Amino acid sequence: MRYRTKVAATVRLPDRDERETALEAAGYNVFALDADDVYVDLLTDSGTGAMSDEQWAALLRGDEAYAGSSSFRRFEEAVADVTGFERVVPTHQGRGAENVLYGVLADEGDVVLNNTHFDTTRAHVANQGADPVDVPVPVARDPDADEPFKGNLSLDRARSVVDDVGADRIPAVVLTITNNSAAGQPVSVENAREVRAFADEIDAAFVIDACRFAENAHFVVEREDGYEGASVAEVAREQLGLADALVMSGKKDGLVNAGGFVAVRDPDLFERVKQRAILYEGFPTYGGMAGRDLEAMAVGLREAVEDAYVRTRVEQVRELADLLEDAGLPVYRPVGGHAVYVDAAATFPSIDAERFPGQALVCELYREGGVRAVELGSFAFPETDRPELVRLALPRRTYHREHLRHVADAAADVLDRRESVPGYRVVSEPSRPELRHFSAALEPVDV
Ligand code: F0G
Repeated sequence: MRYRTKVAATVRLPDRDERETALEAAGYNVFALDADDVYVDLLTDSGTGAMSDEQWAALLRGDEAYAGSSSFRRFEEAVADVTGFERVVPTHQGRGAENVLYGVLADEGDVVLNNTHFDTTRAHVANQGADPVDVPVPVARDPDADEPFKGNLSLDRARSVVDDVGADRIPAVVLTITNNSAAGQPVSVENAREVRAFADEIDAAFVIDACRFAENAHFVVEREDGYEGASVAEVAREQLGLADALVMSGKKDGLVNAGGFVAVRDPDLFERVKQRAILYEGFPTYGGMAGRDLEAMAVGLREAVEDAYVRTRVEQVRELADLLEDAGLPVYRPVGGHAVYVDAAATFPSIDAERFPGQALVCELYREGGVRAVELGSFAFPETDRPELVRLALPRRTYHREHLRHVADAAADVLDRRESVPGYRVVSEPSRPELRHFSAALEPVDV
């Protein structure tokens, strides 16, 4: 184990009646639960991790000057050391970075290609009037195929989009590493190299969504020919170094609770990014962040590429997957870097897609164990053809083996009575269907 506890936060498992009452009051939507009523919170790995003592110490150095803060200089230096990018604008989180970059790159009628757009990426591209098109390798959809880089972008699919719409309409090709919307699967350096060449061919910008770049680099070291024995830091620099621009949510591999950035190479693009950042985020030497938060991310980015840290991190996710599989849940393989994805359709064959098998599993895990996971199937993505997945995302440096065992025990209890598990139907939902899972209310229905 790479860490010991230095600050203790109390968690409590509410009793069964309290859990039932809380779930009903939340409209069977776990986004509406009070976090105090959750025992093991696997809703997301975003901004929920533990900062190190070095990061907490760095907070006190925070220079809150509006312009030219020394914290920004330290942040800029860390970004340059870790990613190789020397032009960076901080933002309040990843979607702020997306708003700034895609607001500059994409226009009405354009098409943006991505191995798979994360929800907020898709929304920001669409907000520009552009069309977000996913071009993952087909094997990404196979939960059992034992392939090393199921997060890769399919060049064949990308080329057929070019044939359909013409290269002129494609301003950007994006690689999301790891591919969160495709079960957190990694992308090879070779694929990044191919995307680089493809982007040059069609004269598009090559963007990397770098949220989980360190976890991705770990998989490269583990699986890609020619990288055995390389360090995560070396691979990260090499892979990120292929891109023209990065969008980053520091809440993942920045190891902080808030923050993000856009980094670019081209000085003209940098100017445009800065102007838009001033409008939406803040003056370019603080963006959407406090000086103290810039300090914490400067330290966090360096910690994120320490080999021993990333190994511990990815192994913990794998351990949770093994425990859940032993308990009887069908787990997507290979396991991704930040989360375990479970096939809910296979878990509850009697609950069809309109009755949300994924949401059924999410509700049962909370009922049984006060565990919070998230549905990423027909409830979250109405009218799209997605597998019925449930994601259990592990916050970084936060939970212990006892918590993982508790989650697996809860899963085993759910499976013991799988025949009596209800499906769900939506009773109220917001006007924007793409944001439905955050605030809709449901009720159980017998199946
Ligand atoms: N890109 C990817 C690949 C992400 O996973 C996220 C966030 C973002 C961009 C946006 O970053 O939240 O800082 O604005 N993913 C979180 C999740 C919310 O739970 O997967 P943000």
